[in-house]
Amino acid sequence: MRWWHIAPVLALELELFPEDAWSAGMFWSELAEAHPGGTRHYTVAVTPDGAVVGYAGLMAVGGDGDVQTIAVDGRHQGTGLGAALLTDLVREAARRGCADLLLEVRVDNTRAQRLYERFGFEPVGIRRGYYQPAGIDALVMRLDLAAGPAVPAGQVAPADLAAPAAAPEDLDEPADHPRPDVKKDTPHG
Ligand SMILES: CC(C)(COP(=O)(O)OP(=O)(O)OC[C@H]1O[C@@H](n2cnc3c(N)ncnc32)[C@H](O)[C@@H]1OP(=O)(O)O)[C@@H](O)C(=O)NCCC(=O)NCCS
Repeated sequence: MRWWHIAPVLALELELFPEDAWSAGMFWSELAEAHPGGTRHYTVAVTPDGAVVGYAGLMAVGGDGDVQTIAVDGRHQGTGLGAALLTDLVREAARRGCADLLLEVRVDNTRAQRLYERFGFEPVGIRRGYYQPAGIDALVMRLDLAAGPAVPAGQVAPADLAAPAAAPEDLDEPADHPRPDVKKDTPHG
């Protein structure tokens, strides 16, 4: 993602995350860290005529990876773009030597959860009231990158989902207190 993608990404952001959309400033500050040697990696999906129809971002710090955000234009969902964007993040996290990849997802966002499960992410906890102002809980999911290849051949993850091994543990994080290593706004992914 480059700076000129921020305007079209923001338009999608407002559409897809109406309750807690990131501001332009947040994307600018993320991109400021997306240089070689920086802690961020952002990617966009662009149609042949130049329209931005998806975006995703990774934070990698000290061997830990976090999916900062992932989103696909509603008119292009269900075509494999989400899987392609997530594949890019997983590969980049592995390339940077991350041992695992974490993300938060709204407990009511079952579609995104299915995508993550197909990639082998497993629930590891709940952050109560993580998404503000609605006060929706976040499911924390983790992909063990040390366990072997996480991204199936051909980019699209296998359809046969493994059931989560255990019920999510309650992390009991204060509602208005996202992880301090993440910028003040709530990560979407
Ligand atoms: C979650 C999200 C990123 C997934 O993106 P996507 O592009 O729809 O993802 P994919 O197309 O790779 O997979 C989604 C579904 O399409 C299906 N699919 C993938 N390729 C397909 C194809 N070629 N033809 C038909 N269906 C296809 C997948 O099997 C999957 O089905 P399922 O939802 O029943 O499990 C997207 O729904 C989104 O942007 N949601 C709003 C923002 C959001 O919630 N982001 C996540 C925050 S944690």
